[in-house]
Amino acid sequence: MADMDEIKEAKLFYTDRPQETEGFFIKGSNSLDWGIKNRLARIFNPQSGRTVMLAIDHGYFQGPTTGLERVDINILPLLPFADTLMLTRGILRSVIPPSTSNSIVLRVSGGASILKELSNEDIAVDIEESIRLNACAMAVQVFIGGEYEKQSIINMTRMVDIGNRYGIPTLAVTAVGKDMARDAQYFRLACRICAELGAHYIKTYYIEKNFETVTASCPVPIVMAGGKKIPEPEALTMAYNAVQQGAYGVDIGRNIFQSEAPVAMIQAIRAVVHENETPARAFDLYNTLKREK
Ligand code: R5P
Repeated sequence: MADMDEIKEAKLFYTDRPQETEGFFIKGSNSLDWGIKNRLARIFNPQSGRTVMLAIDHGYFQGPTTGLERVDINILPLLPFADTLMLTRGILRSVIPPSTSNSIVLRVSGGASILKELSNEDIAVDIEESIRLNACAMAVQVFIGGEYEKQSIINMTRMVDIGNRYGIPTLAVTAVGKDMARDAQYFRLACRICAELGAHYIKTYYIEKNFETVTASCPVPIVMAGGKKIPEPEALTMAYNAVQQGAYGVDIGRNIFQSEAPVAMIQAIRAVVHENETPARAFDLYNTLKREK
């Protein structure tokens, strides 16, 4: 206990300086509670307002994906360059060191495999696990137009309700079925439905035409999904266009860990996302880092 004899009359009241109340930097998040904002601020960098999420959760429905066969060998070297890791509790507990400073987005939907109908998912992780694992957000797949559309939407709304109770945000991941049109009209629909039903931020695909209408009509942040592996200059251009057209960052998997030089690629992506580096200069950076290795 502090020594009572030492207590002096307090003087530093700064009566001429009103207390400042800062606005929160993440789109659509100002009315959220402190815990949710704090977790979002560990995903989105408060300086740039954006995030580089590294998605390595593919195994939850497709097993050991190319590049993820050995997460300990292939992925751990990438962690210093990612703001956030998106993964399953299985890989988190078994491979990722608890000393990591990356924020964690935990995959909480699941139950389908590539051998069956992918939209047939349920909630596969209890909220207690997200709390125990110190997750900064929970990721749920939403299949708008899919066979189990309603079930996947309700999975998401359940996590939003439970997450709000404990201060953990929900990331809605818009999944596109094989036969669905990947156009602005579809993504506006999918992202807006997720936001209206309470998702705190949304992962969706980049499209060449009118992507800015998808970000503009979504009242919470959108992060760009990576998709299948494409050549590095194209992936950097896609990430650049997405953030310049209103995305708050990226959530990329294969275009990083399947790159010829994953450590160089994630740094080039960072430059595009956090420093507005052009795709050409980011590709130069990629080549330089690749050579240095
Ligand atoms: C999306 O459906 C899952 O979260 C994927 O496992 C992951 O996000 C895909 O990342 P990418 O398409 O960039 O490899």
